[in-house]
Amino acid sequence: METRFVAFDHTRLAVHLAGRGPLAVLLHGYPLDHRMWLDAMHGPLAERHTLVAVDLRGHGQSPWCGDAVHAMDTFADDVSAVIRTLSDEPVHVVGLSMGGYVAQALWARHAPLVRSLALVDTRAAADAMAARAARDAAARAVVEQGRRALATGMLDKLLAKRAADDPFGLLLRARVLSMATSLPVETIVADLRGLRDRPDRTGMLPSITVPTLVVVGSDDAITPPAEAQRMAAAIAGAELVEVPRCGHLVPMEEPAAFARALGAFWARIEGG
Ligand code: MLT
Repeated sequence: METRFVAFDHTRLAVHLAGRGPLAVLLHGYPLDHRMWLDAMHGPLAERHTLVAVDLRGHGQSPWCGDAVHAMDTFADDVSAVIRTLSDEPVHVVGLSMGGYVAQALWARHAPLVRSLALVDTRAAADAMAARAARDAAARAVVEQGRRALATGMLDKLLAKRAADDPFGLLLRARVLSMATSLPVETIVADLRGLRDRPDRTGMLPSITVPTLVVVGSDDAITPPAEAQRMAAAIAGAELVEVPRCGHLVPMEEPAAFARALGAFWARIEGG
């Protein structure tokens, strides 16, 4: 894996590249960074595609830019700059959860850059009132109690239930915790405000004209299968894959099933 920095408009984003072939941009969720894609980047998908895992501003190796709010549109404009820097052609775009909100914003604002969309464990709907209030409470809690308390409290929602001594489950928890606790508190607060204020994209879904794959874990407690089914039904020709016994982080929890679904989707598009 190779790391490069893309600089534009006082912003500097780290992008991590692996593999060879047509470009696919991977957009992480909250409170994570490019490391959530490591299984994908070191697996079979990289044999036929150049995978570009972006650290969104303030995440991973991309510095926080001083924003009080990380609007999904700002993230999408950043990603458009990355795509324009790395490619003259439209690229595959894969977004998990918050990354899926960014992928939808990218389609809304920069559709010609998108060759296909994979919307993973995400939704189109905006936050309801209670969810908005919960974002504000989480922002207060992270300032008062710190990152570890916030991250630990999220683990059971992010990951499907596993036996307490399951080594793979323990490793997953450690990986999620290490990403979440390495984010600056400023990033977490700005993300929570951006998530709280993001627009409802439901009405935009029928405008999606590129091949689209919707993936969801059967036990996803944050963006449940019903949300994925609604999204897939609203996008002409969209394919839906539900991964059994899996929570909100399909690419980490079931990397082989994820790679199979995404690899087959890309092969159909590329006629391979
Ligand atoms: C994520 O995984 O990116 C977040 O759970 C998204 C959200 O909270 O809406």
